[in-house]
Amino acid sequence: MENFRIENPTVLHFGRDVIKNLGRTIAPIGKKVLLVYGKGSIKKNGVYDAVMEQLKLIQAEVAEYSGIKSNPVIEDVDAAAEIGRKFQSDVILAVGGGSVIDSAKIIALTIPVDFSGWKFIANQTIARKAVPLISVLTLAATGTEMNQFAVVQNHTTKQKLGYGNRLIYPKHSFLDPQDTFTVPRDYTAYGISDLVAHAMENYFGKGDASLSDRFVYAIIKEAMEIGPKLLDDLTNYDYRAKIMYAATSALNGLTAYGRVSGDWGVHDLGHVISLLYDTPHGATLSVVYPAWLRRMKERIPGRIADFGRNVFNAKSDEETIVSFEHFMKSIECPVRMNEIGIGYGKKTEILETMMHCKVNGSNLKLYKDDIQMILEFMYSA
Ligand code: NZQ
Ligand code: ZN
Repeated sequence: MENFRIENPTVLHFGRDVIKNLGRTIAPIGKKVLLVYGKGSIKKNGVYDAVMEQLKLIQAEVAEYSGIKSNPVIEDVDAAAEIGRKFQSDVILAVGGGSVIDSAKIIALTIPVDFSGWKFIANQTIARKAVPLISVLTLAATGTEMNQFAVVQNHTTKQKLGYGNRLIYPKHSFLDPQDTFTVPRDYTAYGISDLVAHAMENYFGKGDASLSDRFVYAIIKEAMEIGPKLLDDLTNYDYRAKIMYAATSALNGLTAYGRVSGDWGVHDLGHVISLLYDTPHGATLSVVYPAWLRRMKERIPGRIADFGRNVFNAKSDEETIVSFEHFMKSIECPVRMNEIGIGYGKKTEILETMMHCKVNGSNLKLYKDDIQMILEFMYSA
C-alpha cells in the first residue's frame, strides 16, 4: 500500500431540507454572490426559489450566469468569469449537476485573472487564487461536489480535458436528495453508470490497496441493488439518497487512498465521444467500459476476474464483462455505439480525435492498436 494523506476540505451538508442552512453558511464567506446554473431545470423544480430565499435572508447582492450546457464549454466559463470580475463577487454559488459545478470551479480561478480559464485547464499557467465556491448539487453522478476536479470542453482546440487543483474543492456542498427527484430517468441512469465507472477507474489503477478495493465493491453493489429500484420509483427519497451518497463516495478519495493512481483511460476515451457528439457522459462510459475490459482481458485477466467474482459472483473474466453489460442494460444504459446513435462511418473521425487528444490511461497505457480494437468492440454486435 502507498503512503497517502487525507485532507478533504469540503463540508458536506447531506439530507432533507439542508438548504435551510445555505444562507447562514454563505454569510460569513461573502455577500456578493455570483449564482451559476444551467438551462433552467432549477427554475422548474423550485430549487432556484429556495436558493433565492436563502440569499434574500442574508441580504446578499446577486449576479447571475445561467445557461451552462451539459458537457460544459470554456466560452461559458470565461463569460461568467467576466461578469463575476465586474461584479467583484466574493463567493460563487453553483446550483446544478456536474456541468454547472465544474464550470463554477474554473470560473472561481478565472475571476482573479485577466485571461481565459482554459490556460489553467491546459496547464499553461499555475492557479494561485480562487474565489470561494459553494455548491448545491441537483444530480447524483460525478462526485464533483466533494472533489478537486473539473472537466470542460474546448471546441477550438478539440479537447475535453479534466483538471485537478486543491483550490477548487467546494467549501461547502449541499446535497438534498429531494432536489434530484426531477432528474429524468435517462440522466438518473447515466449518473449511476458514472458513479460505477468512477469506482472502477480507481480499481483498475496502480497499486495494492485491498480496503479501497472493498469500498469499490460496496459502492457498486449499492448501485446494483438500489439503481433498478430507483428507476421504477424516481421520487423515492431513500433510493435517491442512497444513490447520491454512493456517487459522492465513488470520487471523493475513498476508493483511491493507498493506490499509486487510478486509471481513467475509459473516461479519456468517453470524453472524445461527448466532445464530438455531445453524448451524455455516463452514456459514453457504459459503452466504452465493456469494450475496454475486453481489450484488457489479455493484460489483466486476474484483476478483471477478481472484480467480477466480488461484484457479480462471476466465474471468469468474460462472465464479468457480460455481467457488467447486463447490469448496464438493466438500468437502460447503452452498451454499444448504435444505441447512442453513432454509426460505424464515424469510426475514423473518432479514432483521429482520440489520437489528437492523446487519450490514455495512467496505469494501463493505450496504444493506437488498443484504441482501434476498443472501438471495434464498441461497435460489435
Ligand atoms: O441545464 P440544467 O437545467 O441544469 O439541466 C441538467 C442537464 O440537462 C439536468 N438536470 C440537472 N439536475 C436536474 C436536472 N434536470 C431535472 N432535475 C434536476 N434536479 O440534467 C442534465 C445533465 O446535467 P449535467 O450537469 O451535465 O450532468 P452531470 O452531473 O452528469 O455532469 C456531467 C459533466 O461532469 C463531468 C462530465 O464529463 C460532464 O461534463 N464530470 C466531472 C467530474 C468531476 N468534476 O469530478 C468527473 C466525472 O467523471 C465527469 O467527467
Ligand atoms: Zn465520470
